[in-house]
Amino acid sequence: MSDQPDPAVEAAWAYEGLHVNALFRQWVEPVLDAAGVTTGHRLLDVACGTGVVAREALGRVGPTGAVTGLDIGAGMLAVAESIEPGVTWTEGDASELPFADDEFDAVVSQFGLMFFPDPARAIGEMLRCAKPGSRVVVAVWEALDRSEAYPISIDLLNRRAGRAAADALRAPFVLGDTDELRSLFAEAGASAVSIDTQHGTARFPSVRTMVEADLRGWLPVMGVFLDDEVIELILADAEDAMSHYVTDDGQMVFDAPAHVVTTRS
Ligand SMILES: C[S@@+](CC[C@H](N)C(=O)[O-])C[C@H]1O[C@@H](n2cnc3c(N)ncnc32)[C@H](O)[C@@H]1O
Repeated sequence: MSDQPDPAVEAAWAYEGLHVNALFRQWVEPVLDAAGVTTGHRLLDVACGTGVVAREALGRVGPTGAVTGLDIGAGMLAVAESIEPGVTWTEGDASELPFADDEFDAVVSQFGLMFFPDPARAIGEMLRCAKPGSRVVVAVWEALDRSEAYPISIDLLNRRAGRAAADALRAPFVLGDTDELRSLFAEAGASAVSIDTQHGTARFPSVRTMVEADLRGWLPVMGVFLDDEVIELILADAEDAMSHYVTDDGQMVFDAPAHVVTTRS
């Protein structure tokens, strides 16, 4: 056995520590509400990451329900398991869900769809695994230009670290166009699709934490690893370029809206 830290697990802990509270946790309640998750439900969370939705759903479904979280990243699942062993964590691909037809009372997926190689197929898979009449809810970020500080980060990355790094940070925003989103769901055979665009707020302890979250927590998840020297250069640039988002108490706060898409199996 090697004592070397596993980079995928380290990146997942960084994601959990730096991103989850700042950006992702606020969407758990809206997504679970939209999906109508309640006592006794069997819930599937697709692209669960470190498991913020799945673990918070345990309280809703109670002891008569059950929650399964699926992700393609073994590092993400290792962190999820160590935080909450009460969820069934499953390694797998959203394009080919390893579950039976009609197995779940609700299926949710927040901020994963934009990374799937064939998102329409993944939506079809979620619909297949949901019981007839039950809800499938998918959250995706609004377009990049509505997400305030991210275009600045992407520009800094492009200049200091190159196109691949910049694209890794652009990727979360590629499904922001609601017409494209509707087309994807239509392609997957979804009917009665509703898109609720909701206000969200990114709240990081500082500019440095926000940018480090991406450089050390997100880029490695996308397979991009930067040298410490480059990271320090980008952080120094960012402190200047983003100072207008800093509040009196030093936090970095900006709008981060998302689309919550609901459909029925
Ligand atoms: C931005 S994270 C969101 C995680 C979690 N839903 C949350 O709210 O914190 C995106 C997740 O999608 C997962 N992912 C990417 N491609 C996937 C695929 N083809 N199948 C399943 N999960 C995938 C990644 O491993 C990552 O955990």
